[in-house]
Amino acid sequence: MNQPVMGGVAALNVPAHVKHQKLINWVAEIAALTKPDSIYWCDGSEEEYDRLCAQMVEAGTMKKLNPAKRPNSYLAWSDPSDVARVEDRTFICSSTKEQAGPTNNWMDPAEMRRTLHGLFDGCMAGRTLYVVPFSMGPLGSPIAHIGVELSDSPYVAVNMRIMTRMGKAVFDVLGTDGDFVPCVHTVGMPLAAGQKDVPWPCNATKYIVHYPETREIWSFGSGYGGNALLGKKCFALRIASNMGYQEAQQGGTGWLAEHMLILGVESPKGDKKYVAAAFPSACGKTNFAMLIPPKAFDGWKVTTIGDDIAWIKPGADGKLYAINPEAGYFGVAPGTNDKTNPNCMASLRENVIFTNVALTDDGDVWWEGMTKQAPDHLIDWQGKDWTPASSTKAAHPNARFTVAATQNPVIDAAWDDPAGVPISAFIFGGRRSTTVPLVTEANNWVEGVYMAATMGSETTAAAAGQMGVVRRDPFAMLPFIGYNMSDYFQHWLDLGKKVEAKGTLPKIFCVNWFRTGEDGGFVWPGYGDNMRVLKWVLDRADGSAPAGQQHMFGTSPNYGDLNWEGAEFSEVQFTQITSIDKDAWVEELKLHTELFEKLAYRLPQELVDTKQQLEGRLGA
Ligand code: OXD
Ligand code: MN
Repeated sequence: MNQPVMGGVAALNVPAHVKHQKLINWVAEIAALTKPDSIYWCDGSEEEYDRLCAQMVEAGTMKKLNPAKRPNSYLAWSDPSDVARVEDRTFICSSTKEQAGPTNNWMDPAEMRRTLHGLFDGCMAGRTLYVVPFSMGPLGSPIAHIGVELSDSPYVAVNMRIMTRMGKAVFDVLGTDGDFVPCVHTVGMPLAAGQKDVPWPCNATKYIVHYPETREIWSFGSGYGGNALLGKKCFALRIASNMGYQEAQQGGTGWLAEHMLILGVESPKGDKKYVAAAFPSACGKTNFAMLIPPKAFDGWKVTTIGDDIAWIKPGADGKLYAINPEAGYFGVAPGTNDKTNPNCMASLRENVIFTNVALTDDGDVWWEGMTKQAPDHLIDWQGKDWTPASSTKAAHPNARFTVAATQNPVIDAAWDDPAGVPISAFIFGGRRSTTVPLVTEANNWVEGVYMAATMGSETTAAAAGQMGVVRRDPFAMLPFIGYNMSDYFQHWLDLGKKVEAKGTLPKIFCVNWFRTGEDGGFVWPGYGDNMRVLKWVLDRADGSAPAGQQHMFGTSPNYGDLNWEGAEFSEVQFTQITSIDKDAWVEELKLHTELFEKLAYRLPQELVDTKQQLEGRLGA
């Protein structure tokens, strides 16, 4: 199996434990195209992680942080042009444009293959090709899926070790003929003989490409986050959402890959329930997933299954079960502190890779919002001196940490359970300063799907574009659905019917933590106080909450239905954030109409009917 070095072709160096000929042939084929200097098969060991990190410290890609302050942790600064996911360079290359739908960029797969073939030809020259085998979900579990990423970035290899179950054991599960999703990644900066590398190689040209029919991912030009760690958004959302849909198309029940956190809530009596919640980026998903209940909930525990992605499958008992396919958190650092998320801060004490945060004079990290008072001097994420008088941010607004889920002090005991956890409720939420009430339970599954489908969120300073503009972000999945969005809605409706026929569907809720008052500040305290809403959601889900107030969109609590012990939150404030302004909703529904016009092709009739019913109720 091992190929000798011949005519400048790197030796394949296949380890003895790799017995999968199709995989070996594919690695050989990609190596022949990309022409790396050498090929390295990752084993996922700690020794390998330490070695690759040390190599990146040597190369200037990472700095080792002060071990007395932040043991076994590193800081990487990216190229200033490579700091976020690139949605406009992300493509779903299904065989027809309709299959990708109007919300995805599409190019004919044959044409895209020609373009990429040109770009990938020789793109790894002067570099090492890392073979990174990984499992999304517990190794060997019937709901897990395997991927293999071929990347010329050691930063990718070490991050993948934290974010996924990565290493040698994956090859054992693959055996001689197991299925895997092939993922090819390059920073797109080949090195000529003798050319010195830069600390963060990347290319101004970027392509993040998915071929759903062949389940392949090809990524060119970026070393950053979701563009480069291909198990996350590319595989676990775009390819996986398509896989779950295809399974239903082929006569199965199908399944869901969602942009959702999963958390557990345990009562003082030991009753345990799980909810899955979808929020767009920068709406506090990690904070919600690690929430600490206020004193009024003495004895209640909130635990984390996952903070970003859920794979949800119907169980034989007629319930929906969810797993977190990831093994780590790739979270936004700015704004995280001991008040907003103490559990996250505790997770970050050691063994972390930070990207684009600032460096303190004593070799630790800092980001905006970490402490009230900024240090007197820092080196900012671009390597420049920074003081509180500087007009720029010390950390990039999208600066990240990568940390293993096992470091979370409130990790749920079942987080790694291959069977997943039963979901009692789905929560959908966006960032809306007006219009959307604090919490609403949908009248039924179809109206819940409508709520999620028409969800919107205001853009923040951290995101590109105009501040405060409402962007429709159905199911918080706008950049992540790997097929036609109308078909995705239909898949949710169909799955609901199939599950309901056999058992019980979770209830669907819509929340909004972000309504503002006259002074422009948030009215709702958020963070731990979200427990007050979460408890009501769970009580509604099991039928034990009071009837609440019925309105045209569903049911919301009365002031007296929530536990206010220890909170200074008046009925007037409550009314301010639960009131429904008819005029605002008339305008809101016009935006739903705009969305539905865009998605008209194959839009489920049930959603069109639901909109008409809402318009009728609004006009009544
Ligand atoms: C993320 C995102 O990185 O949603 O999780 O942008
Ligand atoms: Mn996300």
